[in-house]
Amino acid sequence: MNRRIYFDNNATAPLSPLVAAQLPVWAEHFGNPSSIHWGGRGPKTCLRDARKALSELIGCDPLEAIFTSGGSEANNLVLKGLFFHHQFKASPRKHYLISSVEHPSLLEAAAFIKRLGADIEIFPVGPGGKIDLEDFRSRVREDTALVSCMLANNETGTIFPIKKMAHIAHEKGALFHTDAVQALGKMYLSVKDLGVDFASFAGHKFYALKGAGILFSKRGHYLEPLIHGGGQERHRRAGTENILAIASFGLMAEQKKHLEEKLAHMSLLRNTFEAELLKRISGVTITAGEAPRLSNTSSVVIEGIEGETLLMRLDMEGVAVSTGSACSAGSPEPSAVLLNMGLTRRQAQSSLRVSFGWYNTAGEVERFLDILERTVLRIRALEQERDLNSLEAVI
Ligand SMILES: Cc1ncc(COP(=O)(O)O)c(C=O)c1O
Repeated sequence: MNRRIYFDNNATAPLSPLVAAQLPVWAEHFGNPSSIHWGGRGPKTCLRDARKALSELIGCDPLEAIFTSGGSEANNLVLKGLFFHHQFKASPRKHYLISSVEHPSLLEAAAFIKRLGADIEIFPVGPGGKIDLEDFRSRVREDTALVSCMLANNETGTIFPIKKMAHIAHEKGALFHTDAVQALGKMYLSVKDLGVDFASFAGHKFYALKGAGILFSKRGHYLEPLIHGGGQERHRRAGTENILAIASFGLMAEQKKHLEEKLAHMSLLRNTFEAELLKRISGVTITAGEAPRLSNTSSVVIEGIEGETLLMRLDMEGVAVSTGSACSAGSPEPSAVLLNMGLTRRQAQSSLRVSFGWYNTAGEVERFLDILERTVLRIRALEQERDLNSLEAVI
């Protein structure tokens, strides 16, 4: 029996057994989907079927989905693609309004276009992940090209009021992008209902292979491609398609029919975990616990505990969790997202992110709670001992 526990589904999700079973079949389709001989037909069908299933999943037309290598590329494509597109206009809009809690792939792309002349404004997200819509409205300008705010945050699971924000942006003629990478499979979503112009997705957060993502780009909008070359993706993203990764993403899209059951399952795990944690360990607070949240994400502050230390000790027990976003793991700095959501440096450094997935079980939650309680008590006892020793040394 595998005793290891994986509660880091926001970093990446394990491969679905459905995908694993299908891999040898897709591997047969080695041809280039652009080939017009027999070798191209199988992969072309895989591509077409995946595009159809995925566009139904996210609520768009198949031709509005541009396949990318993942979420980072989709975020880069929208920001740089729109900026470069505006360079060809007589009077380009220069202002880009971006939330303070975005993923680095969005913030770094913004920093890059700023060096090229874009006017980048970062708007704040208040304590508990609350966005002040009136403040937001006052920041959208006549020359705002794009507003970007994620649908759900990777660290706390906070869900932002995208539909209202997109409406406000559109009143000034600005376009709206949402990074929906963390939302897929964790909440109901439809890009049409949200009213956004662009949205980013990644297959590996959704139990598919790494290497495939989507940028939803509403019909009628134009982005300069990041990769020029062949005519793939209707000239919006050149390069031979990653058929295996795309097909696996498409297969997972067909699981939409089980979403209600999956959401209820993850909510139960998350709620049980939080309720028991608060009972068993003192000095615990749930970050942004009052805000609308993804059903799977729990971000907690455990007073007096160094997140990195806890993470390493849990790892030794076979438990995979996170202290911040996976992409910034390894950095001793407290998470900027948590600081931007109103946590102090100390609280942010004592944070633990537990993200559940479709394939986790109640038994794993039970075992994790036992391990966590034991580990926290041990760290606290050691800290107390150390404090006493240093006090004795002073005396
Ligand atoms: C909100 C968000 N956006 C974008 C990304 C980047 O996606 P990818 O790893 O597919 O490049 C991540 C990954 O952690 C994410 O959490």
